[in-house]
Amino acid sequence: MDIARTPSNPDGNPEMADAAVDPKNLPEIRREDYRPFPWIVSETRLDFDLGIDCTRVRSTLTIARNAKADRSSTIRLNGDGIEATSVTVDGEPTQSWVMDGDDLVLTLPGDAHEIGIETEIDPSANSQLMGLYASSGMLCTQCEAEGFRRITFFPDRPDVLSTYSVRMSGSKDRFPVLLCNGNRVATGEEGDTHWAEWHDPWPKPSYLFALVAGDLVARSASFTTMGGREVELNVWVREGDLDRTEHAMESLKRSMKWDEEVFGREYDLDLFNIVAVSDFNMGAMENKGLNIFNTKYVLADPETATDGDYDGVEGVIGHEYFHNWSGNRITCRDWFQLSLKEGFTVLRDQLFSADMGSEPVKRIEDVRILRGVQFPEDSGPLAHPIRPDSYREISNFYTATVYNKGAEVIRMMRTMAGEERFRKGTDLYFDRHDGEAATCEDFVKSIEDGAALDLTRFRRWYSQAGTPRVGVTLEHEGETARLTLTQTVPATPGQSEKQPMPIPLKLALFDRASGTHRGEELVILNEDRAEVTFDGFTEKPILSINRTFSAPVTIERDVSREELVFLAEKDDDPFARYEAMQELMTGHLVADVTDDLDDDEREAAREDIARAMRSVLEDDQLDDLMRGELLMMPGATYVAEQMLVADPGRIHARREALKTALGTRLAGSLQEVYARTENMPFSLDAGAKGARKVKTLALAYIAASDPAKAVELAARQYDRADNMTDRQGALMVLAGLDSAERTGKLLDFYNRYQNNALVIDKWFAIQAGSLHPRAIEHVKALRDHPDFTLKNPNRVRSLYMAFAANPAAFHAEDGEGYAIIADLILELDPINAQTTARFVPPLGRWRRIEEKRAKLMREALERIAAAPKLSRDTFEQVARSLG
Ligand code: PHE
Ligand code: ZN
Repeated sequence: MDIARTPSNPDGNPEMADAAVDPKNLPEIRREDYRPFPWIVSETRLDFDLGIDCTRVRSTLTIARNAKADRSSTIRLNGDGIEATSVTVDGEPTQSWVMDGDDLVLTLPGDAHEIGIETEIDPSANSQLMGLYASSGMLCTQCEAEGFRRITFFPDRPDVLSTYSVRMSGSKDRFPVLLCNGNRVATGEEGDTHWAEWHDPWPKPSYLFALVAGDLVARSASFTTMGGREVELNVWVREGDLDRTEHAMESLKRSMKWDEEVFGREYDLDLFNIVAVSDFNMGAMENKGLNIFNTKYVLADPETATDGDYDGVEGVIGHEYFHNWSGNRITCRDWFQLSLKEGFTVLRDQLFSADMGSEPVKRIEDVRILRGVQFPEDSGPLAHPIRPDSYREISNFYTATVYNKGAEVIRMMRTMAGEERFRKGTDLYFDRHDGEAATCEDFVKSIEDGAALDLTRFRRWYSQAGTPRVGVTLEHEGETARLTLTQTVPATPGQSEKQPMPIPLKLALFDRASGTHRGEELVILNEDRAEVTFDGFTEKPILSINRTFSAPVTIERDVSREELVFLAEKDDDPFARYEAMQELMTGHLVADVTDDLDDDEREAAREDIARAMRSVLEDDQLDDLMRGELLMMPGATYVAEQMLVADPGRIHARREALKTALGTRLAGSLQEVYARTENMPFSLDAGAKGARKVKTLALAYIAASDPAKAVELAARQYDRADNMTDRQGALMVLAGLDSAERTGKLLDFYNRYQNNALVIDKWFAIQAGSLHPRAIEHVKALRDHPDFTLKNPNRVRSLYMAFAANPAAFHAEDGEGYAIIADLILELDPINAQTTARFVPPLGRWRRIEEKRAKLMREALERIAAAPKLSRDTFEQVARSLG
């Protein structure tokens, strides 16, 4: 699961760094160049002699010619910053190999051989966190996408499936626990060392290999599958963390059950291990039978984790578990097919979380992420189709487009087919391709055949980038309502011409007088333009369109504020109701930023928004989780996204002004909501979670209109809190306001939680993301805080991602925010390229920003580009951003 991303350059090994190719000359890898690998690697035996600063790896590959590929007298084994200390063929030392860049190319006389290779690596020097590395005294691996080649020479590509047998040995003292994929088949000890042998019966690509050695303890449980297999489950953590693993374990059991019930998928080993690691580039990794997780997505208790963190743990545990079928049993033929496993698995985890909690709220959250992250990606220099055509560094393609838009594309198939037929499609897919390295085309074909859908045109969603814009007009004449739909797919880098794509739109027409509609319809817009008529309307109906966000598109329509207020109050589709609220606010903000509204116009708009919000605050049919969604203002990035060229300073100012106006107008209702929710006892059920959500939202509006009152409420909320959601929410509000309480509570928070890294991450993020006018200075000071380190990705992100997402601070007029991010990129790049490259996209938005800031952003990018040495990851992102 995604957080940040991958590698390339050698780790901290200076000799190898010098040997690295100049990234500027690195060729593009193209999807159309795919060729099957000339050799089959039926078996892989690995023998690890483990040490923190020296691990010896002996690998034995049993290979034979691949009859389905071009014949070759050589085999290319990928490497990355490693050297072979010995190479043998059929047990005999050989000299007939050469290094080609980082790869080892070996000449082979016959059709079947056994290759032996030895390498030595230094896990303690591996700051890239790809391959085998040390994390607080333990050893662990990360191999996706191309990390295995940092451990040993191997055809490190997802279409080479092999059966792995692994022997690992190491100090009993340092590494009491030895874990690998599959089943443990033997153990033993000799003096101070011990060893374990593991066998994974399921052939897998190298990116799914994993090993862990360390001083760990487990929460254990068991799960009986629908076929009666008893599976041992373990969640492994450092000793002090054991009492924060219950939620992870329960989430795992629920995931296993859900995948049986909803997708008919059963687990296929007797053992399932999860290990939590504090130094991790991403969210988690689906290695066969041995998932490795960022601690952030395992550890949770009410005192230290927010409701959002709880949901994150459940979602990511589900995601990685679901990969066992969508990813591991069926993997990807090549990395261009990444969305085959990621898009589908994201959809699966979204459906799972929806079933575990509130379906509409989950849908709204997912759409918010899509529009806040993926839409900007799709309209900027890094836009790419969900199945890209080329890359220089695959780590840069673990994107919101491949993951989240990928999920939306499959969700549309499900919407068009209906749940039952969609299930037939996925059954056929799992059946047809089990054990294979498949393509997106294989998936689409299976859904097409299994669900009986014609997806000929729909396939364009895989090849075309850009968010389609759907124009909507509704006319009324006599008793007929005529709906005209048009679509355009905007040009994106490398794709100037686009074809129309099928767009499934759920819609309903509301009768103004009764406030009801006659039923929801699904209209599929297949062409550039379509017209649909509806009869029997004596009055012009009100249109509710793209209900449940049935298609990942932008709707452009002329809709009056009065109609939006109607929908915000009455629409029976919770998503559409949320959407009406958002449109009401977004429409007004765009006008306020661009049109120089006069006071009367502004007042009228604010009055309408306040009226809709009041009905949300007072509607006792609503549950609080949903109420919270309806109360949220659109993010500044989303507002900016509506404009060709945006002025972030102005957007921020107008958005804050609207918040203040709403806080003032709704003061009474907000305080009532606050009073109602303030003393609700803690529990994890939806009612209590919802109460916490609206409580802090109300507080944020109060903070904008009556800061003194908010300081008082927030300080009390902070002190009385018996859970992290309330405490963090209060601190967030305080962090944006100048007061003695701000300093006091920030200090208290630090002192209370200084031994808990995940909570200290929050402490950094709250300050870096705060509304405080001096947030930039705070970030600079925090950079020098003794607890800050560039070596830990969570810590780096907690300070700098929060900062890059803080519109007022990041977009400071003098460009200081851009300089801070550029400095970070230059300093972090040699340490952790994958994490670094994730900081480039915020600067890459310059074309859509007003010219003064755009120039400063460009200059920051150019300064990075001019660095004498850059990782392939960062270089590719900077080059594409400068375009
Ligand atoms: N495959 C992981 C997931 O989505 C993400 C990941 C990619 C993790 C690369 C580590 C490295 O679940
Ligand atoms: Zn995934």
